[in-house]
Amino acid sequence: MISVKEQRQLLKEDRQGEAFYVAVTDNDSGERKLFIESYGCAMNFADSEIVASILQKEGFSITTDSGQADVILINTCSIRENAELRVRKRLTDFRSSKIKKPSLLVGVLGCMAERLKAKFLEEEKLVDFVVGPDAYRDLPRLLEEAGTGQKAVNVLLSREETYADVSPLRFASNGISAYVSIMRGCNNMCSFCVVPYTRGRERSRDATSIVEEVRTLSADNFKEIVLLGQNVDSYSFESVEGNVSFAALLEMVANVDPLMRIRFSTSHPKDITDEVLYVMAAHENICKYIHLPIQSGSSRILKLMNRTYDREWYLNRVAAIRRIIPGCAISTDTITGFCSETEEDHAETLSIMEEVRFNFAYMFKYSERPGTPAAKNYADDIPEEIKSRRLTEIIDLQKKHSHARLLSQIGTFHTVLVEGTSKKSANDLSGRNDHNSMVVFPSPGNILPGQYAGVIIRDCTSATLLADFIIR
Ligand code: 5AD
Ligand code: SF4
Repeated sequence: MISVKEQRQLLKEDRQGEAFYVAVTDNDSGERKLFIESYGCAMNFADSEIVASILQKEGFSITTDSGQADVILINTCSIRENAELRVRKRLTDFRSSKIKKPSLLVGVLGCMAERLKAKFLEEEKLVDFVVGPDAYRDLPRLLEEAGTGQKAVNVLLSREETYADVSPLRFASNGISAYVSIMRGCNNMCSFCVVPYTRGRERSRDATSIVEEVRTLSADNFKEIVLLGQNVDSYSFESVEGNVSFAALLEMVANVDPLMRIRFSTSHPKDITDEVLYVMAAHENICKYIHLPIQSGSSRILKLMNRTYDREWYLNRVAAIRRIIPGCAISTDTITGFCSETEEDHAETLSIMEEVRFNFAYMFKYSERPGTPAAKNYADDIPEEIKSRRLTEIIDLQKKHSHARLLSQIGTFHTVLVEGTSKKSANDLSGRNDHNSMVVFPSPGNILPGQYAGVIIRDCTSATLLADFIIR
């Protein structure tokens, strides 16, 4: 087993859009080589670290070169049609690699597994095996089966699996920041969303195993952890001492190491409690940043989306954040062109954006997902050009707000966790502040990645703060 320190020394990273492939080691020892590519949300990236850990125990080493691989795994995303199309394209590329190397095994992991297993395996013969998000422990057996030419598949969803005892192989990490999954699945039935079907019922991971993992990361010199769940606010674990809520877990994690930054995602407007906000306010090492997807500013559309809150409730939660954590950054997700969305509904999304002035947003066009309540019950009736025009209006407005938020930081002091040198100049360092904004400043020469720097913001571009170094 390679230690985290060794992993870090051997780490080489190359990000390509949403996909990544990272080497732990390329060796000629005759070990079987594994190539993993991940798509979609942070949960998928964290899952790939679990898969790598399970297969490392089976004697696999990880390679960045798909041409060297004995096994190729694609960890897939189904959230929008575009994500699925990208994965299909990659699978077609890999099928041609099999012609050159017939022993190569190609497998599909994650969210596309359940929905497309028959298509991938039988109809299109794109892959050798298909593994759903709760079946990764079964990978060694499935690989063996696929190796004998059988079509191997396990897409069973579980009510218990949290991989609590699997120590993730941090092969994609920069050695500074690590993902820690605190729960899996989702019980919310947002009508547009495929996640409850692809990732199953919600279940919370044992709080003790989470705190232990964070302790290990702290001992390994990690400086930031991101607690992950589809809806972290509904975290709930029955321990022998009683129920552990998300607020309680956050406090336990924050107390592990005061120099370790804590982030978390995703918060749900219907569930985020004042208690969580008070814990955030009380702990300096919990970043003052909340990702709070709104989806739409129209209460009528929110009802159709089954988000179970309305515009007023969302604004009330934002007011609570501003009251309890002044200056807290808030980002959001929006979906444009949901079924039956009128110009008035769209105007309400623009107007709530004006009211909140989000620091950042991930903005999408509605993409109908087969099998979801929206696909079954409502017509995807907003023409593509209207979706596009509305999305452009949302993006333009958000750009203005993001820039205004950055401009308002000029002259203020920020603590930056340095991640490395800036992409544009080797003389500059870059890292994120408490609000999750990227900050670039001239290197004083004595600060390394993983260390904190105190800076004063001097200027900004549309997405980056430019600063002067002040103190270590
Ligand atoms: N179409 C468009 N966007 C979607 N999202 C989830 N499902 C869909 C869909 N069918 C977006 C939501 C969610 C984010 C992760 O992806 O905004 O918060
Ligand atoms: Fe999907 Fe809603 Fe669950 Fe988020 S909360 S994963 S949008 S069902």
